[in-house]
Amino acid sequence: MSYLWFSWCLVFATGARQLFNHMGLSAPKSRNIDNGIPKLQFFDLGSGGGRLVLQSHLELPSVCRSVGIELSPTRHEIAMRRMNKLVVSGTVDRIRELAYKSWGWETGSCSSSVIDLIEGDLFELDITKATHMYLLSLCFSESMLERIVDKIETEGFSLQIVASLRLLPLRKSGDRSEEKDTPDNLRVVRLGENPWMEFIEMSWTRGDGCPVYFYSVKKSNTKQGVDRRRIQ
Ligand SMILES: C[S@@+](CC[C@H](N)C(=O)[O-])C[C@H]1O[C@@H](n2cnc3c(N)ncnc32)[C@H](O)[C@@H]1O
Repeated sequence: MSYLWFSWCLVFATGARQLFNHMGLSAPKSRNIDNGIPKLQFFDLGSGGGRLVLQSHLELPSVCRSVGIELSPTRHEIAMRRMNKLVVSGTVDRIRELAYKSWGWETGSCSSSVIDLIEGDLFELDITKATHMYLLSLCFSESMLERIVDKIETEGFSLQIVASLRLLPLRKSGDRSEEKDTPDNLRVVRLGENPWMEFIEMSWTRGDGCPVYFYSVKKSNTKQGVDRRRIQ
């Protein structure tokens, strides 16, 4: 996949707001807040220049941690520079304070929220605390998506929603073609078999949007899955 394609294939501010809204991150919900402290964690796997991660931190009071992981050192460096510029100029504090006020919240708790921009391979990332995950999966191969589905279903203990630009290659229960496939009993959660679709503005669309698939995530009810969740 070319550098140009990766750099061009992005979600901008309007699309990001549509995405957050469809993921249920844009409105205050009491179940997402614990004693005045937000408890959602937004993860962008393959975060490029970090735009989406930064925007989730700036505009979503319900998110206490925004995480982006990016394999390319150059794009990671761009993301870090973007973040540092926003922090040093005071823009982060100013916008977050406005976002909190717009929800009618005290601004005191906004200081507890963090951004983690990580340079590395998404397959090495700890996703056990992620509640909402985004995959700009147009750039990922089918075999990579299969590995991502396995990772999500074996490690995504806290996940509620996964958004993906491509339909994900789900494994049905008992559907193991090869020994190396992950056994059902290691899956702690299951991606819903009926994702819903919304049109979201992307860098390459002109008002008509691009289809994005939203998967709700359910706890797996195999005994081993329940036991593994308990250990966590
Ligand atoms: C098109 S960009 C998405 C940018 C960002 N998510 C957005 O919406 O603005 C996809 C990114 O995934 C990254 N990527 C590909 N494989 C990866 C891996 N194994 N681990 C982490 N990042 C990866 C690429 O380097 C690329 O920057």
